[in-house]
Amino acid sequence: MTQSLLGPLLLAAADGPTGRTFWMPPQASTIAAEVDWLYYFIYWLCLAFFVAIIALKVLFAVRYARRTPGQQAEPDAPTHNTPIEVTWSVIPLILVIVIFYVGFEGYMKLSVAPQNAYTIDVTGKKWSWSFAYPNGVTDGGEIHVPAGEPVKLVMTSQDVLHSFFVPDFRVKQDVLPGRYTTLWFEALRPPEGQDTAEHFVFCTEYCGTSHSDMRATLVVHKDRAHFDAWLEKKGTPEITVDAGRELYEKNCKVCHLTDKPYTGPSFGDLAKWLKDGAERPLAAGGAVKVDEEYLRESIWEPNAKLAQGFSPAMPTFKGQLKDPHIRALILYIRSLAQ
Ligand code: CUA
Repeated sequence: MTQSLLGPLLLAAADGPTGRTFWMPPQASTIAAEVDWLYYFIYWLCLAFFVAIIALKVLFAVRYARRTPGQQAEPDAPTHNTPIEVTWSVIPLILVIVIFYVGFEGYMKLSVAPQNAYTIDVTGKKWSWSFAYPNGVTDGGEIHVPAGEPVKLVMTSQDVLHSFFVPDFRVKQDVLPGRYTTLWFEALRPPEGQDTAEHFVFCTEYCGTSHSDMRATLVVHKDRAHFDAWLEKKGTPEITVDAGRELYEKNCKVCHLTDKPYTGPSFGDLAKWLKDGAERPLAAGGAVKVDEEYLRESIWEPNAKLAQGFSPAMPTFKGQLKDPHIRALILYIRSLAQ
């Protein structure tokens, strides 16, 4: 027990092959070990100086305390000691130069992606991430990458500042509207016998009400062939209720519940209206019949016929959810009416 608690605390990187330590999650990218090394170097340095400074302070406070009221320093007491002053200036100078050098080198490495990197486009919006691959596949909620080769993310935001953070990879980059920022990493292979490994992605820039819901899963495939097979399959989603539910959970759930209205209308209500062919009042006046075409239009152009009682908070999913996706989503909505 003591061993398992203290081990990682005392020995920075000594808890199995993952490299999980007391302060740090597992190391899952090629840069993680370097980042952790510098982190723990500074950590132990600070701790050592903290202990030394506090110990001397206490020692001096006791040793040199005034013993009698009005006691004066001895006339020949020292006011300077050049060797000591040079020592406590030069040693810290060397230490901060080391910290700067290692930090700058790591920063440069993280800043400049290798030329041959596999590129994925990332879009942040309130409050979800979407990912576009070179073959035109777009997806939300999950980003898939191959292990063992550099992957470069080209990122932008549709609305406010977000920040893309993968703790297990020790990489993080702000995502800004009207500008492209990049981030790159090389994922380590999943543990022996596993085809994929999953890691958390967080938005780490406060971006509004559901900031804490703005998460995604990063899936590392064991090699390029396994990744390519996934990408190929992803390009042609099945039109089934289950596929629809999966799409709902990834793309819609943050704002649309199934049982009651939230940021947007509930999918349960949509199912009822769709079944009855109900007319719904619009924010701009007039009404619209809820049918499949209205659902499609509302996914691609959410503000074209904004429902009464809701604010224009929904971003467009045009380009991200294509015809088969919408068909699957409609199947899922229909299934909620039963
Ligand atoms: Cu996006 Cu916080």
